[in-house]
Amino acid sequence: MNCAECHGDNLEGGEGKALSGTQFWTDWKETTVGELLTYIRANMPFSEDGSLKGTLATSTYVDIVTHILQTNGFPAGMKWQFVDKKSPNPKKLLQKPKKKRKKKKKKNP
Ligand code: HEC
Repeated sequence: MNCAECHGDNLEGGEGKALSGTQFWTDWKETTVGELLTYIRANMPFSEDGSLKGTLATSTYVDIVTHILQTNGFPAGMKWQFVDKKSPNPKKLLQKPKKKRKKKKKKNP
C-alpha cells in the first residue's frame, strides 16, 4: 500500500499518525465513511509539495478506506456499502463496531 511507509504496515503509525485503534477512533469517531474517503483523497499520499495527493485511482482509495475500516474492526465485504451511491452508508457515522462474538447463542452442545 502507498501509505505504509508513513502510517505503518499495520496502520500502527510511524512518520504519520496511526490509522488504527485509539488514535483512529479519537480523530474520526464523529465523521462518516464518506468524509474519511474525501479527506484521504484530498490529502494523501502526503508529500512536502503536495504533488502526490489525489494521485491514486478512486478504486485504490476505496480499497484503502476499506482496509482501514477492516483494520479497525469493521466486517469484510462492506466495500459495496459506500461505493453504491444509493446506499445511505456514506453518511453513516463511523462507530466502533461492537464485538458480537460473545453474544452469539448457538444451540449446539
Ligand atoms: C510521506 C508520508 C505519508 C504518506 C505516504 C501518507 N501519509 Fe497519511 N499522513 C501523513 C502525515 C504527515 C499526516 C498528518 C498527520 C500527522 O501528523 O500524522 C497524515 C495524515 C493522514 C490521515 C489523518 C489521520 C488523522 O487521524 O488525522 C489519514 C486518514 C491518512 N494520513 C491516510 C493516508 C493514506 C490512506 C495514505 C495512502 C494513500 C497516506 N496517508 C499516505 C503522512 C503520510
